[in-house]
Amino acid sequence: MASAWYVRLCAVVIILSLDSFVSASKYDKVHHNSGTHHVPDGGLRDNYYHRSCPHVEKIIFKEISKCFKADKKIAPGILRMSFHDCFVRGCDCSLLLKGNNTERSSRSNANLHGFEALNAAKDAVEKACPGVVSCSDVLQYATRDVVILAGGFGWNVPGGRRDGTVSKVEDVNLTNLPSPRANATNLIQLFESKGMTLAQMVVLSGAHTIGKATCITFDNRLHSDIPEPYADPYSPSFKLYLKSQCPNPNMFVRVNLDSTPEKFDGRYFHDLVHHRGLLTSDQTLMSDSRTRHCVYKNRDDGVFKKNFAEAMVAMSKIGVLTGKDGEIRRRMEVVNSK
Ligand SMILES: *[C@@H]1O[C@H](CO)[C@@H](O)[C@H](O)[C@H]1NC(C)=O
Ligand SMILES: *[C@@H]1O[C@H](CO)[C@@H](O)[C@H](O)[C@H]1NC(C)=O
Ligand SMILES: *[C@@H]1O[C@H](CO)[C@@H](O)[C@H](O)[C@H]1NC(C)=O
Repeated sequence: MASAWYVRLCAVVIILSLDSFVSASKYDKVHHNSGTHHVPDGGLRDNYYHRSCPHVEKIIFKEISKCFKADKKIAPGILRMSFHDCFVRGCDCSLLLKGNNTERSSRSNANLHGFEALNAAKDAVEKACPGVVSCSDVLQYATRDVVILAGGFGWNVPGGRRDGTVSKVEDVNLTNLPSPRANATNLIQLFESKGMTLAQMVVLSGAHTIGKATCITFDNRLHSDIPEPYADPYSPSFKLYLKSQCPNPNMFVRVNLDSTPEKFDGRYFHDLVHHRGLLTSDQTLMSDSRTRHCVYKNRDDGVFKKNFAEAMVAMSKIGVLTGKDGEIRRRMEVVNSK
């Protein structure tokens, strides 16, 4: 079972959408307040680098767009990295640190994708403004950017996170990251333990509107005669399709997480209503009466994209380091030498 939890938000192909450019230029406008900053909470604030590195968001968007054009899989990849970073020790970029027994070395992080894109973005930022912008903020800006590139709405990313210097493989466990076999209770409790609401949990599960999961994360629902207690069974036609993809147990074949895997849209939630949720942790959101109404609501593209953007701002504030805590790492993958 534990072998399975590394595929909540996985890799796939997405298409470039026009939305992106509309939303991107919107940021430029929103980002012009001079003088006093609005301080939302936790020491983070919008437009954090407007004096110290005024073009940081443009620099990152440019690098990430370039990488996305070459490899659409960085969208689900970076989105998943953000989730795995924020839920383990907070959004401190500890996930990116290389080394023995770091978070990154965990089996649940074995399939992460998009490191090169993040390194490229950070290196470009360091060139323009050395030692100013944290890796944690670069990751959050890049996450917003890949959602835009895949067709979602953007959001203002509050900045000012500092980077962690500690990264432990044992922190990557089921108290911090949900199993693909989690039921609604498990998911609600885990998100609540991070200060996130039930509604935010459901909408963030919609990250599975892009990406793929390997057969082993759900094939218990295909090859077992024992009904899954917390998720209604697959629709017959979907089950036939999945059996053709994963004919035997424990295969590493990758299957789309929703029926429009190239688009960041509300289709994931339609699929849940039609018993086409891939993982137990997806379908349980429809099967459980506490979360079902949120599934219905998020079927609307506009509602989903707006709710998702808001929930991502909330997620990006989990357990952040600010002030004198942590450091501004010069590189994504190693701590600064003392
Ligand atoms: C990781 O472990 C290997 C083998 O024990 C050792 O050779 C290497 O120096 C270690 N690396 C770090 C960064 O600690
Ligand atoms: C899981 O991670 C938490 C910290 O986030 C830690 O307190 C706990 O000991 C870990 N559990 C195991 C079994 O290592
Ligand atoms: C959900 O899963 C947990 C074990 O992880 C179990 O204790 C609980 O009874 C399950 N069902 C519900 C409805 O909470």
